[in-house]
Amino acid sequence: MLKFGLKKRLWEKVQNLTNKTKKALNSVIFIIGVSGCGKSTIGKLLSQDLNIPFFDGDDFHSKNNIKKMASGQSLNDEDRHDWLETLNHLAKKQLTKSSCVIVCSALKQTYRDILSIDIESKIKWVHLSGSFEEIYNRINSRPNHFMPSELLKSQFDILESPKEALQIDISLTPENIIKTIKNELMNKSEFGLFGLGVMGKSLCRNLANNGFKISMFNRHIDGEEEDVAKNFKTQFSELSNARAFDRISSFVASLQRPRKIMLMVNAGKTIDYVIEDLLSHLSENDILIDGGNSNYIKTKERFEYLKTRNIHFIGAGVSGGEEGALKGPSIMPSGDLEAYKSVQPFLETISAKDRNNLPCCTYVGPEGSGHFIKMVHNGIEYVEMQLLAEVSAILEILGKNPDEIANIIDSWKSTANSYLLEITAAIFRKKEGNDWLIHKILDKAGNKGTGNWTTMASAELGVPSTLIASALFSRYISFYKAERLQLNKKFIKLNTSELIMTTNDILEAYQFSRIINHYQGFKLMTEASKEFSWNLNLSEIARIWTSGCIIKSALMQDLIVVLKDTSNILTNPQIIDIVNQYRPSAKRVVSQCVLNDITIPTLSEAIQFLNGITTKYASANIIQAQRDYFGAHSYQRLDDDSLNSHHTNWN
Ligand code: 6PG
Repeated sequence: MLKFGLKKRLWEKVQNLTNKTKKALNSVIFIIGVSGCGKSTIGKLLSQDLNIPFFDGDDFHSKNNIKKMASGQSLNDEDRHDWLETLNHLAKKQLTKSSCVIVCSALKQTYRDILSIDIESKIKWVHLSGSFEEIYNRINSRPNHFMPSELLKSQFDILESPKEALQIDISLTPENIIKTIKNELMNKSEFGLFGLGVMGKSLCRNLANNGFKISMFNRHIDGEEEDVAKNFKTQFSELSNARAFDRISSFVASLQRPRKIMLMVNAGKTIDYVIEDLLSHLSENDILIDGGNSNYIKTKERFEYLKTRNIHFIGAGVSGGEEGALKGPSIMPSGDLEAYKSVQPFLETISAKDRNNLPCCTYVGPEGSGHFIKMVHNGIEYVEMQLLAEVSAILEILGKNPDEIANIIDSWKSTANSYLLEITAAIFRKKEGNDWLIHKILDKAGNKGTGNWTTMASAELGVPSTLIASALFSRYISFYKAERLQLNKKFIKLNTSELIMTTNDILEAYQFSRIINHYQGFKLMTEASKEFSWNLNLSEIARIWTSGCIIKSALMQDLIVVLKDTSNILTNPQIIDIVNQYRPSAKRVVSQCVLNDITIPTLSEAIQFLNGITTKYASANIIQAQRDYFGAHSYQRLDDDSLNSHHTNWN
């Protein structure tokens, strides 16, 4: 009786362990490779060892495919399509129960794409690789087997080595192969997060909440940063399976290959130091993702540098702040498309979801394009923030207290909703003691540089992003607090009791300016896309900015459709109507503010910009004449279609 009880407990323990293994794995292991690489043998051994089902892909061919193969013809991509879909369905079905092993040649990326539809994050690719000679000799030494060398060669020709796969050298013994695969899949983490600042920590929790097995790293600095990763792990139950490190070598060694490491460290030189520290521990095809607000030019340089070291580099803009990073940020990755595919399941899973439940994460384009659009995102963000600051200041001058301002802003949600609008209303409501907190905050705006870069990029590309520059320079003006106080005494300000405008005028002026802001932001991306041949999809960019990020708004939602037809939103008939409708209010608000010495740089710049961009014959003829006068820079004439240069002796 006692013996039986012991046996039962032991059996339950084994079962528990097996279930735990299955649960921990929760994957479909696709073992792939050319004919003769040993897929079936390894697949069966692995399935026995892990106690999970085994499927041979070849058993799932249609009658037609079998007939075709039996007649000696090889299958084309069309024949394979349905078969690959069948295997994808099989994989999906198995995932609802547990893990499984499927063997299938899957030589091309397009085949693997079909196999992984909707289950990208649940697939582990294992590629059994060997040289042509090794495999040829191996097949032809098997009794009753013969494979013409041309046939095997054709398989090698179409083989697109899967970069996302665990590469296994078939010269190892089957036992060692199983040991290696198990060690990689069972004991190692799928994804590494380097740098546990506010954003890094939130992303770790987000990844863990989504079921990913992660390793987390934070440096050790005596007395300053000690056991950061370890302590963080103990704080949140979702991190119980995460592994914590403060030694780079152990962190890197804890990751499945090819390794995927997201860097969440301060933008700038730190990224280069971190890359250098990591490099000696990385192997070919490992992937580094820079999730910080890095400069796009630096991202391109790092991309090129790491290419020479056979490491992939993804520059990924991440927006949404601490909460976004935890619950779902908007993610803007760029670099090699193929490398992106390896990290896509992770990034898309943790990203915010749009209205249609699609991930607010998309492959943006090559090199630093992801960081470029994140930079423009921040430029638009600067303007949206400044516009809200300006309209709130006007409301205050009109005599509204913070609660009333919050009420007015809240009432705009039905027509002008945005995340920044919502938080601004909340900010105005916040009280500290008997007073509103907003009254206690020093009026000097900080910045971390992205608005500066956007303005510089605009100047370099010759794009008039005047609102972004204006919002940036407003922050700079705010910083001259002492000088402002001094000059305030020297220059008389008019009495503002005469401000003639309604709250609705302010709302319309605000909406008018936001359209100009978005026009300028998308214009900057259009020109950069042309200049750098990035082929940016503006509508898709608008889509991934509808959730998770700081500039998500109802307007952004509308722009998805507008940008499908044009890159210039000011050519869209509905936008033209709205701009024409709001323009009189914008003029009224701006002129009233100017007459009353109220500073409204972005509101007035929006009016000025529309005036400029819609002027038929600009005053630039006078600039050209002046340039020619003092510098013989020459000019073109309206009455000369040849576009020849002309010079006049003005004296
Ligand atoms: C985001 C924000 C984020 C950060 C800015 C702030 O999209 O989540 O843009 O990146 O808040 O870096 O920038 P400033 O300090 O320059 O205002």
